Amino acid sequence: MFGPKSHLTARKGHLFLEDVDLIGLAEKFGTPLYATSEARLRANISAYHGAFPDADKYFAVKANGNLTVLRIAAQEGMGADVFSLGELYVARLAGVPKERILYNGNSKSEADHRMALQAGVRMSVDSREELEYLSKTARDLGREAEILFRVNPDVSPKTHPKIATGLRTSKFGIPAEQVAGTYQRAVGLAGIKPLGLHCHIGSQILDVSPFVEAMKKMMDIAGAVVAAGCEIGIIDIGGGLGIQYNPDAPAPTPADLAAGVLPVFKERCYELGIAPKLILEPGRSIVADTTVMLTRVNVVKRAHVNFAACDAGFNVLARPMLYDSYHHVLVANRAGSPAEETYTVVGPICETGDVLAKERLLPKLERGDVLAFLDAGAYGFSMASQYNGQPRPAEVLVFGGEAELTRRAEDPSALLAGQRIPARLI
Ligand code: LLP
Repeated sequence: MFGPKSHLTARKGHLFLEDVDLIGLAEKFGTPLYATSEARLRANISAYHGAFPDADKYFAVKANGNLTVLRIAAQEGMGADVFSLGELYVARLAGVPKERILYNGNSKSEADHRMALQAGVRMSVDSREELEYLSKTARDLGREAEILFRVNPDVSPKTHPKIATGLRTSKFGIPAEQVAGTYQRAVGLAGIKPLGLHCHIGSQILDVSPFVEAMKKMMDIAGAVVAAGCEIGIIDIGGGLGIQYNPDAPAPTPADLAAGVLPVFKERCYELGIAPKLILEPGRSIVADTTVMLTRVNVVKRAHVNFAACDAGFNVLARPMLYDSYHHVLVANRAGSPAEETYTVVGPICETGDVLAKERLLPKLERGDVLAFLDAGAYGFSMASQYNGQPRPAEVLVFGGEAELTRRAEDPSALLAGQRIPARLI
């Protein structure tokens, strides 16, 4: 068992996900491969239900758009935070009820508004300007748009700057001081029904205090909205709870988050005499630790450092390249062997930045070994690309002792999808 990850164990030198030998999986399905534990996914969702029994939880589809993962999330009673028509489409196909979907986004087109209205889902409105556009489109369609307002709470979440979203300078949300006025305007606007407030302060946050600060600011704004004579039915505080990627950097649990934010929420609601529904939008903390990414070592090169060059690069797992993220690495066919040498793990992509893990102390590596990148279930496959002519890998779901394919690996024909050569060039 590896730290808090009870679904990963070492048995007779091999790494197992639940009761499935990951080396057997690599052989059967090939590498690179994403393998997800169904039991862990369900347990992570249960932890949120336990910590927030009265709140709705909307899974952030951007973290993992696998239809089977979404199906399980829907079965477990989650709604969905979607950020595009594509995410709306997969969430609906997976069986997420439209009443539990929030269509987010800071740059929605008229077509996005129309489709969301026709699909009957709520939207989060990101600006005063968007409110006016949406009102017109809703009137044209003869519909009423149920909306939340995305608030910019001006909270610093102490995370990587590229994934901090609630800073005053970020592109997201309506500045706090504009919210009550905008809300009031919306109440009288044809085609619009304002239901509440929404924010999201950032991602991979390892400290509860920024969430508490955001909740206080949201409740201050709710107070201003109520003082302006409007009703608040929903407070959505987004996602962002971090996970323990690095054995040295523990993360708060959903229960810790609840212990921080719920007392503020309850007390302030009581003071204001309101009883809004609380919504959370977790992505990473639901799905990251459910999944390992398996990649085979092609070359062990002794150069100025030891390079282990694998068949997955930033095309498969972009996070280390984009955010200098740490993913813990285990050698799946040498589980339990002592760490002996330091390796920098690189991929097959034609860029120097194609580094998945820097200077890791691992058992001695050979060509053919299989590395497991842990915590790859969030923003892993969903950010994979076909760069360098690399078809995207397969995904499997592990359930007890079995593994089932949930997305087949692309073959090179996927690189041609939608392409045509103009006839005059043939
Ligand atoms: N709600 C909204 C409105 C969001 O923008 C996000 C994430 C979430 C919920 C879910 O946040 P989570 O619970 O997963 O932290 N690609 C980056 C993360 C980008 C997050 C964007 N928004 C990464 O790989 O770290």
